[in-house]
Amino acid sequence: MRSEPRLGPAHPHLGRAGFRLAYPVLRRWAEGREFYTPDSGVARELGRSLREKLERGEPAYLIGLGPGGHDSGAALLEVTARDGIRLLSSHEEERFSGVRHEAGPPLRSLAQVRSDLDRLGLFPKDIHAHLASFDYVRMFAGGVESFFQEVPWSVGLVRSDVYPGGLGPQWRAFGAARLVASELPGSSPRVVGMGHHGNHASFAWALSPFAQQSEPVLVLVLDATGDDCAISIYLARNQHLRQLHQNQSFWDSLGHFYGLISSSFGGWPIGSAEGRWMAAAAFGNQDRGTNRYYRALRRLLHGGEDGSILIDRTLAQWHVSGAVRPFSQKFLDALGGPSAIEAGWEGLSFEPNSRVPELADLAAASQLVFEEALQHVVDHWVAATGARRVILTGGTALNCVALQKVLERSHRDAVGQSGIAGALCIWVPPAPADEATPAGAAIHFALQHGSRPGEPLQHAFYCGDEPTAGEIESGLSAAQGLETEPLELPSGRTGQLDLARLLAVIVADEGVVGLFRGRAEIGRRALGHRSIFASPRRLAMRDFLNREVKFRDPFRPFAPLCTLRDAPRWFHFEQPLDGEAASVYRWMGLAVRAKPEAFERIPGALHVDGTARLQIAPDDDALLFCFLETLGRQIGAEVALNTSLNLHAPIVQTPAQAARLLRNSPGLDAILFVAGSGEAYLAWTAMHTRERPQRIQSWLARWRRAEGAPPRLRALTNPRG
Ligand SMILES: [Fe+2]
Repeated sequence: MRSEPRLGPAHPHLGRAGFRLAYPVLRRWAEGREFYTPDSGVARELGRSLREKLERGEPAYLIGLGPGGHDSGAALLEVTARDGIRLLSSHEEERFSGVRHEAGPPLRSLAQVRSDLDRLGLFPKDIHAHLASFDYVRMFAGGVESFFQEVPWSVGLVRSDVYPGGLGPQWRAFGAARLVASELPGSSPRVVGMGHHGNHASFAWALSPFAQQSEPVLVLVLDATGDDCAISIYLARNQHLRQLHQNQSFWDSLGHFYGLISSSFGGWPIGSAEGRWMAAAAFGNQDRGTNRYYRALRRLLHGGEDGSILIDRTLAQWHVSGAVRPFSQKFLDALGGPSAIEAGWEGLSFEPNSRVPELADLAAASQLVFEEALQHVVDHWVAATGARRVILTGGTALNCVALQKVLERSHRDAVGQSGIAGALCIWVPPAPADEATPAGAAIHFALQHGSRPGEPLQHAFYCGDEPTAGEIESGLSAAQGLETEPLELPSGRTGQLDLARLLAVIVADEGVVGLFRGRAEIGRRALGHRSIFASPRRLAMRDFLNREVKFRDPFRPFAPLCTLRDAPRWFHFEQPLDGEAASVYRWMGLAVRAKPEAFERIPGALHVDGTARLQIAPDDDALLFCFLETLGRQIGAEVALNTSLNLHAPIVQTPAQAARLLRNSPGLDAILFVAGSGEAYLAWTAMHTRERPQRIQSWLARWRRAEGAPPRLRALTNPRG
């Protein structure tokens, strides 16, 4: 017999009292460390002087900081009265350290900011303000509130392992001002912690193509948790963004729902579990009536008439024990118990008649429940605001399949439950998760103090510097066992086109080649500056990439990179490719569905459910466009598989990291390195395949014979042979 759910905290008033006690104490303590809240006198004064500076026609420079905890980093922003807000850089610490979701202080990111300032002829003293990605005072006071809401059962929340990584790194974020003083000497060492969801929303909206709209734009922030909430709703109109609602709960969270189910049952760490779980979901039973886990999982979440999402606290117990024991025995019993999940990942197969393991059914059920909950939130707020333009951000916006279903439903049922005619227009930033919130904090502060959005985002390449020829050469030299061929090329666009043809020769012959050039992409997705390319023609290539190149789970799909003109031939699009939200397809923000011909001609680019996380190559990227165009002439589709240049780590940032990856990936044939000044190098190793040098030489010979000006090759160098 089912008992009644318990929704909301047990002792909300006691929790509120705990917050009221803790907040002023924490605030005073933090101010002693030059860490301020957004409503502090220091923040107001910095805001007032920012307005005055802009009114005088002077530019202002702001630094956004992820000071530690997770996804640390640093970003630089320019604000002017004439051009509005301009993002100059967004450095993700994990790229430099090689540690996913780096929790340590952003020392290397701040070094990058120093070099950004050098390039601009600026000094640390020219920085107007430093803004942190969380309001840590509110966050820790919110932790006290959460504790008192559930006493005495919440005693488990004081365990150090209650959440992956513990709370220590977050606490150390209060040392942000000290960090600024040591890494940016000469600047004012005061840091203002900005509201986390406001940071997500500000980044996503101010850089979106909708920011100049006078029509309403709905901005939905859904992540694991911000500094005092897990779901926030914003509305933008006439260049002004305002908050409509926050759910004031750490725990009634779709990010926690998906993260804790995927990590608990998938056996992977939070942060990488979600994407793998989403990939596995496509193999499971999608039928709500017959999926063995759907009914039990559905009971975890309750949708309120006010658009809220609440967890049933008799089934979930992450509100009292975090990630240590996130589900109650009652829930596990209803699910069938963990022992029912026996098949394991090895049973997942691409064969159509294979037995789909129970684990995939569980993944499918959680995806279905997540999609319903997301739809519930969207329906309510679309109806409440009348907005047709919707921006989704926060970590859950990485679930591009769920977002695509929201979009599809709005087109299928243009009236829908909301009763408002017209399909939605959805946009997602290239970095919806926390890696963008240092930049978001600076944008949030600028918007709060009289600045306006500038140009919408045209690309996603804001991390680190572009590599120099010297860095590439020394990186290749340091990695033993590599062979390198410097390529002499015509300068400018002609040289880019020659390189594109080399990539096409390799990929058309079923080779696997990396491309390393320019500044790195922000966010989780490879967008063509740190990418690995392969042919989409054979399903076997997908298996090969997972097994021999990336060492990934066998069920993971690979994303297609496609030209704009060829994309409609293979995929269905709900949003027009020349419409105002078209840039969402530049950074894989939405999934798309394949047309029948795609299953025949580019099966390697499709997931088992016929979806793909497509990236459309921008026409103004000569190298990518020409690569796909040349490839299209050879394989009949202007489509390549595109996966990130990494191995169980963040996307590589430096040439040295890329060179090490080349040594460690037996299936990766070569990496093409392109320096900022145009020099190019093809590197490979014979360590894993004795035949590889012959393959490489044969591709180079074919390339030399290819149409266009034949590039001249210098003698082979082999730094360490
Ligand atoms: Fe977040």
